[in-house]
Amino acid sequence: MLPKAEGVHYIDFFRDLHEAILFDWYLEIGSRKGDSFAPVRGKTIAVDPYFRLRRHVMNVKRTLLLCQTTSDEFFADDALGRLGIQLSFSFLDGMHLFEYLLRDFMNTEAHSRPDGVIAMHDCCPFTTAMTTRDLENLPRGAWTGDVWKLIPILRDYRPDLTIRVLDAAPTGLVLVSGLDPQNRVLQENYDDIIARFSDLDLDSFGPQRFGELFTFESTRAMIDSGFEPFRHLALDPALVSEPKRVST
Ligand SMILES: C[S@@+](CC[C@H](N)C(=O)[O-])C[C@H]1O[C@@H](n2cnc3c(N)ncnc32)[C@H](O)[C@@H]1O
Repeated sequence: MLPKAEGVHYIDFFRDLHEAILFDWYLEIGSRKGDSFAPVRGKTIAVDPYFRLRRHVMNVKRTLLLCQTTSDEFFADDALGRLGIQLSFSFLDGMHLFEYLLRDFMNTEAHSRPDGVIAMHDCCPFTTAMTTRDLENLPRGAWTGDVWKLIPILRDYRPDLTIRVLDAAPTGLVLVSGLDPQNRVLQENYDDIIARFSDLDLDSFGPQRFGELFTFESTRAMIDSGFEPFRHLALDPALVSEPKRVST
């Protein structure tokens, strides 16, 4: 039996988080309509090969970089390195195959502040059907793919990281902190990890064994605590003011 994330919806969590905390640099991989980065108030980079923006995504941001490309191409281009950007908070929600999320995590950590936070979406499927890797036959409704594998992978290869799993509906939010941008353990073991995990499905890993890897934390309690894991990243809100309309 798989544990089900039934807490506050992740989009509502992000809305409240970004209202409370002004981040310096925010990176998002996988944005589609812009729902998850629209409430961000700090400098923002959003990466998606196929944007379908439908909201007032600029909000009060002074800087918004939209990169319409895959995350692998984005990181290969080294825009973050060339601009000298150190990320405060990142949300990884791109291609839902574990090798993509693993690369997104490795590349994002390498450009993060050591005290930054990386959130990963959809790592807590509540059925095995939604974990399929068959892109030609995706299930109706939620599709998490096999990014659940990031939890056992990071637990095995990076026990130095702090991993917290929120019960944010519908498929959880994994918060990773204690980052080490110089760490190359995942890069050095990348081929081994792919060989070990590619053909593994959730049924053979064991749903119960997966559920024992974490305990859901209450998303509501994290909101009510004033976003404790993020508070040290908050910039002075005076740095952002509502943009004023300029007559032309
Ligand atoms: C689940 S949607 C993102 C939803 C958004 N974060 C939200 O919460 O509203 C996943 C997005 O990942 C994008 N995507 C697919 N492959 C990608 C890749 N290789 N790199 C970056 N983004 C990718 C898709 O185009 C899609 O828009």
